[in-house]
Amino acid sequence: MSETTHPSGLTPQQITELRQLAAKAAEKSYSPYSKFRVGAAVLLDDGGIFSGANIENASYRLTICAENSAIATAIGDRGPKIRLRAVAVANLNGAASLPCGACRQILLEFGTPETWIFGPGEDGPQEITLGGLLPFGFHLEQE
Ligand code: THU
Repeated sequence: MSETTHPSGLTPQQITELRQLAAKAAEKSYSPYSKFRVGAAVLLDDGGIFSGANIENASYRLTICAENSAIATAIGDRGPKIRLRAVAVANLNGAASLPCGACRQILLEFGTPETWIFGPGEDGPQEITLGGLLPFGFHLEQE
């Protein structure tokens, strides 16, 4: 592995592209209440990339996070067997942000502890695995 190769196996260009797509998706945010404009882009194992933005609701708790929105779009196109290789989140508010707790569990449903998460940090870009964000995530044992 060369020094420039990210542990995810993605090239710096791929990571930059995913981050840019997340930022582009944030422009579609429906967030009249929080005014926090979030976008997410998911890279699938099959190479497909899908994005989504947060969708708020007057009944606040019905809000759909950008990550959830992106996953719904991916499943709508590719079907229920999608697997997440990497996820980028971005916002247009200049804030540090990683997926919320609920989104971490949703991401784990279609990802693994090795799915990489890229987001804006306090001092520039930050990155972490899903397992790092959500250790001991819930799994339902099925037959
Ligand atoms: N939000 C996301 O879209 N993703 C996250 O991971 C964190 C929070 C949205 C939900 C709500 O519309 C706004 O950000 C403020 O919480």
